[in-house]
Amino acid sequence: MYVKWDDSYSNGIEIFDTQHKGLFKLINDLHDGIREKKNREALGTALGALMEYTNTHFGDEENAMRITGYPGYEDHKTQHVAFITQVSDINDRFRSGEPVMTMELVGLLVNWLKNHIQTVDRAYGPHLKAKGA
Ligand code: FEO
Repeated sequence: MYVKWDDSYSNGIEIFDTQHKGLFKLINDLHDGIREKKNREALGTALGALMEYTNTHFGDEENAMRITGYPGYEDHKTQHVAFITQVSDINDRFRSGEPVMTMELVGLLVNWLKNHIQTVDRAYGPHLKAKGA
C-alpha cells in the first residue's frame, strides 16, 4: 500500500475522516495501476475517479466551513482550487496523449494531500466540533 491512513490524518470529524480514507484508496488505486503498467484507459479511469471524489469531498468541506462561519474558509478554498487546477491540467494532458502519468506525479499529488489533510484540514476540526459536527 502506497499511502496508509493513521491517526495523524484524523481531524475528528467522522464524515471527513471517512472521505480522506476514500481519497487515500483512490490514490493507491492509481499508484497500483501505474506500477502494474495498466493501459491508458484503466489509468484514465483511476484518475477520473480520483478527480470526481476530490471534487465532491472539497465541495462537502467547503459547505461545512461556509455554513458554520469558519474564519479560514476563503484561504482553505483557495488551496482546494489550486489542487483541482493542477489535477485537471494533468488530466487534460493525459487525455491529449501526453505520457504524464508517472509515479513522480502521483508522489506530488500524495504529498500535497498528506500535507493539506495534516494541516489545514485538521485546523477546522475544533471549529466544526464546536458547531456540533
Ligand atoms: Fe480534505 Fe481540504 O481537503
